[in-house]
Amino acid sequence: MCGIVGYVGKHKASPFILEGLKRLEYRGYDSTGVAILQNGAFHVVKKIGRVANLEKEIAKSPLNGTFGIGHTRWATHGGVTDANAHPHISSDGKIALIHNGVIENYAAMKKFLLTKGYTFKSETDTEVLCNLIAYHYAKEPVVAGENRLFASVRKTLLHAEGTYGIVVMGVDLPGEMVAARKGSPLILGLGDNENIIASDVSAIVARTQSVVYLKDGEIVNVTQKDFRVTTLDQESVSPTVDRVTWNIADSEMGAYAHFMEKEIFEQPVALENAMRGRFSEDGSTTNFGGLNISASEFRGIERFMFCACGTALHACMVTEHMIERFARIPVECDYASEFRYRNSPLFRNTLFFVMSQSGETIDTLAALREAKRKGYKVLAVSNVVGSTIAREADGGIYQHVGPEVGVASTKAFTSQLLIGAMLALYIGRMRDLSFGAGQRCVTALKGAPDLVRKALELAPHVKAIAKRYAHYTDMLFLGRMSLFPIALEGALKLKEISYIHAEGYPAAEMKHGPIALISEKCPSVIFAPAGEIFNKIVSSMQEIKARKGPVIAIITEGAELPAGLADEVITIPTCHEAVLPIVASIPVQLLSYYIAVERGCDVDKPRNLAKSVTVE
Ligand code: M6R
Repeated sequence: MCGIVGYVGKHKASPFILEGLKRLEYRGYDSTGVAILQNGAFHVVKKIGRVANLEKEIAKSPLNGTFGIGHTRWATHGGVTDANAHPHISSDGKIALIHNGVIENYAAMKKFLLTKGYTFKSETDTEVLCNLIAYHYAKEPVVAGENRLFASVRKTLLHAEGTYGIVVMGVDLPGEMVAARKGSPLILGLGDNENIIASDVSAIVARTQSVVYLKDGEIVNVTQKDFRVTTLDQESVSPTVDRVTWNIADSEMGAYAHFMEKEIFEQPVALENAMRGRFSEDGSTTNFGGLNISASEFRGIERFMFCACGTALHACMVTEHMIERFARIPVECDYASEFRYRNSPLFRNTLFFVMSQSGETIDTLAALREAKRKGYKVLAVSNVVGSTIAREADGGIYQHVGPEVGVASTKAFTSQLLIGAMLALYIGRMRDLSFGAGQRCVTALKGAPDLVRKALELAPHVKAIAKRYAHYTDMLFLGRMSLFPIALEGALKLKEISYIHAEGYPAAEMKHGPIALISEKCPSVIFAPAGEIFNKIVSSMQEIKARKGPVIAIITEGAELPAGLADEVITIPTCHEAVLPIVASIPVQLLSYYIAVERGCDVDKPRNLAKSVTVE
């Protein structure tokens, strides 16, 4: 949530910051703002709405300074107003601040600051933090060679409860930024005679691929040519400089209308990247480089526990199905947000997994920390190299699908499904799964990209269906076994980008309640792959039809539905059970995308949402 960019260097700051904010806009898009230091004063421009509004405003009187900060906001404290937009300036005019996170004890801080004469223009916790830094800055003695701003930010943060990623400038200190993080990501980009601080590498890669991932509890002083990292407790840190493998083209939309569309159609290649180099030479199992757990340790695992949020949790639920089926080991899945507070009893010899595209979701991170605190080994599946979750996990698997920008997760989801199936195969082959069954599974997984290509050819057909169904206000998504989580995912996709109320259910559960919703006004999307329970699913369809509910059936090739049962039929290729959820995801992604477009929704930036949820 919230995008942050700070720049100090040889070029004009505002065009670079605006460009960075556009790339970060998916993190929050309620309001935006910049503060540029020029001619000894902060020049602040803030606007509700998108970066484009801010850009127009700045164009009226261009800013020439080479030092500044910018922010895109996802509102927490205070409504969406220009005044609540960041950057905030302290009431004495000395400090400018941008912030991602929530300061929980802001009320007590504010009470104190009011007694000291500080005033407030906004309702935000951030302005309180800004004034507290100004308060410490005013009291800090001026000592030659010592950084007053750094010292006052550090003192302030020692009192701050909650989460933050902040960048601070002082009006008296041109060319010097201080940044710190706790619970919200911050990355330092090391350029040629310029340095950048951002909440996401996508705002940095236009200038440099050399980065330092700051850790929680670290604070950094950054100038045009230098930087120094310490902990808040003043221990010096020797930072590691990493190289980002993404480049600027990976986070551009190209010829597509939306990032979501691009990412849906990128899935065959994304899957190829996610599986590359991960199959054994004998073609019967998989290998993962970074698990940091020996085969014999793996062999001793008696249970798996998966935690995640949103779409990633749906991927975990499919993985549960795959591991139980291929490896016959019990698996439990939980919402990370529930697990972190539930204090649930865990079995010994449990291996813990978290899944998170961004690697920054605060609830998933908290679940990881809770499991580690209880002494469990935790592995992570994540797409973002160097993300907090990836770094704090004991090992894990990177998805390698490149940046996912659309708020609605698509390619990250199917690659998580792929990795889940590959993991299940890996564990299965250590147990009862035969060499031949392993080989068949590997062959099927290798074929997944082509099956997805074939499923994507359904786009015109699904688009036509979307036009006919875009006016409905309620929809059900029904599936069974490994496709039940895909039904949940279909419903989530539809509601998040088209604002149609949708619910996912196991198809046979429908008659225990949701059937009351069925009428000609509530269509059902129902997965009916050929197989052992096909006839049972057909019975569920009959029950819907008997109540005049429109049916959109997603079947596999060769499955024969009774005539007239479905109003719409989408036929996906027949596939191995390990691949079926991946291929079945494609029509529901396309359906929600085209319905949202038909309804004129802002597909990549749905209302109230943000790509990476770094607040509780
Ligand atoms: O980055 P993460 O995978 O941890 O994100 C988890 C959820 O916030 C995310 O999947 C969310 O549900 C998506 N917007 C769904 O499309």
